[in-house]
Amino acid sequence: MRRVTTKRELRAALVSSKGERRVLVPTMGALHAGHAELLRRARDLAGKDGCVVASVFLNPVQFDNEADLSTYPRHQEDDAQLCEDCGVDVLFMPTPQEMYYADRSMVVEEKLLSRALCGAKRPGHFAGVCLVVSKLFNMVQPTDAVFGKKDFQQLAILRRMVRDLDYPITLHGVPTVREPSGLAISSRNERLTGEQRVHAPKLYAALKQGAAAYVAGESAANTVEIVTKLIETIPGTRIDYVEMVQSETFEPLEIDAHEEGPLLLAAAVWFGEIRLIDHVEILR
Ligand code: PAF
Repeated sequence: MRRVTTKRELRAALVSSKGERRVLVPTMGALHAGHAELLRRARDLAGKDGCVVASVFLNPVQFDNEADLSTYPRHQEDDAQLCEDCGVDVLFMPTPQEMYYADRSMVVEEKLLSRALCGAKRPGHFAGVCLVVSKLFNMVQPTDAVFGKKDFQQLAILRRMVRDLDYPITLHGVPTVREPSGLAISSRNERLTGEQRVHAPKLYAALKQGAAAYVAGESAANTVEIVTKLIETIPGTRIDYVEMVQSETFEPLEIDAHEEGPLLLAAAVWFGEIRLIDHVEILR
């Protein structure tokens, strides 16, 4: 594996890359079993002759909360080891100064799908994601890129970016990896206290219970209420949102609606200072 930190080194490493497919896995580091799945998928897609590029860059531009950025876990050496173990060919670990000009003035903003859920609660977040991913696409020029489905809205927005900006890149979504308790694996989990960890799986359990109620005939409004009430019983939590939307357009459902899928029941919940997101897709 070649480990590079500058754009110039990245270009040099890519010149010698062979094979038809170049597969990019963008990450913010603090890699875990979920990222390992993305990297393994990338390796499969690239085949033995293709090239897998992983980036580890804690993108300051997508953080709307300074404390979240400063406390975000960083484990560069462990990250590099995991990339090596998963068959990455080129690992790009730039500094913020390498990535961004001090007087940068371009934005890449998606204006429709970002209005709901996390986009409504974290102003500028998805514009920061689109900016860094579009830069990585330009630097790496991959044929394919792999993202986790855990960040469902992010993946939908990036698909829209690829379509609307004509990037000749195929995006692949990898299913959420969960602990046996049901808790979605996330870099932020390592900041949970022992007690928060005990309660955190209840978020997914609440969403699953809500989805089952909806499928059994509850309206969208009642489903959201069921999930809200369940989450409110989890000690030490504060709800950021519980919402049900169309999973392709992210349009909210009519209050009394009982529409056919594909729908998304999603929530963001603060466990103390840590914000966890999760969702259930309702496909029928
Ligand atoms: O999902 C993430 O880890 C980040 O949002 C991404 C796509 C790497 C962009 O910084």
